[in-house]
Amino acid sequence: MTTIDPTPAAAISALATWYVEWGVETATTDSPADWYAAAAAARDRLLRDRPRAADSAPAPAGEGARMRGARAPAPAVPRADPAAVDPLSPESAAALARSHAGAARSLAELEQAIRAFDGCALKATASNTVFADGNPEADLMLVGEAPGAEEDRRGLPFVGQSGRLLDRMLKAIGRDRGSVYITNVLPWRPPGNRTPTPAEIAACLPFALRHIALVRPKLVVAVGGVSAKALLDRPEGITRLRGRSATLDLPGLAGPLPVFATFHPAYLLRQPAQKRLAWGDWLRIAEILEKQSSPVP
Ligand code: URA
Repeated sequence: MTTIDPTPAAAISALATWYVEWGVETATTDSPADWYAAAAAARDRLLRDRPRAADSAPAPAGEGARMRGARAPAPAVPRADPAAVDPLSPESAAALARSHAGAARSLAELEQAIRAFDGCALKATASNTVFADGNPEADLMLVGEAPGAEEDRRGLPFVGQSGRLLDRMLKAIGRDRGSVYITNVLPWRPPGNRTPTPAEIAACLPFALRHIALVRPKLVVAVGGVSAKALLDRPEGITRLRGRSATLDLPGLAGPLPVFATFHPAYLLRQPAQKRLAWGDWLRIAEILEKQSSPVP
């Protein structure tokens, strides 16, 4: 009978786990990929495809969020002419994203625009573009951070371990994927699930904001600190932002859209003691939706 020496088996297992944690499982080709060449090609496409000033959509009026009783609305980011700035700069990528996102008139057009967008280098290392899941007619829209390994493999948001906890929290308030709509600020997985950089967030945020404007939910839930800070344009962490009422002003919407921030399920898996606060948040979310749908007496 063959016996396996446990020492090399444990070492191989530890090495495989380490690879998975750092995103090496995305290297699924037979030959090595030159990501520097991929990034250079993306940059060249960006240069070639950049819109001329005349092609740009109008500047979003008053785009930004405000926290009730807190500081004044953030001034709208001045709209840069994508053709007039360095195409490699984060400002240029964000300007290009604003232009392409603003031109999308439907979810299908937005998805197409995101898939065609080469202004975020994460696209080069991701296996899939993760657009959305759930019901686009839902009154509740959840916006997470970015796909993880499982989401990247399957092309759907929140289908890994934290997604399963999210599903349980939704179930606790009588919801499931048929009655919510789910997306992320970033449609591409950061390698090894690292935190996205400010430049990556800035390059993808215009698509997320347009996504919200096209869905027109009654309530947006920012799931986790990256989403809350990006959507609300606030510097504080999630422990300060969660559980507070805020609104988001988006072009194309009749009025300010309520936004509620809560903990990310991945954080709750690491810090189960915080589930008590999260439970309070989800009850509050259910209450806000209930109030919005009940007829005014
Ligand atoms: N975490 C997120 O923020 N989004 C996902 O889709 C999965 C994990």
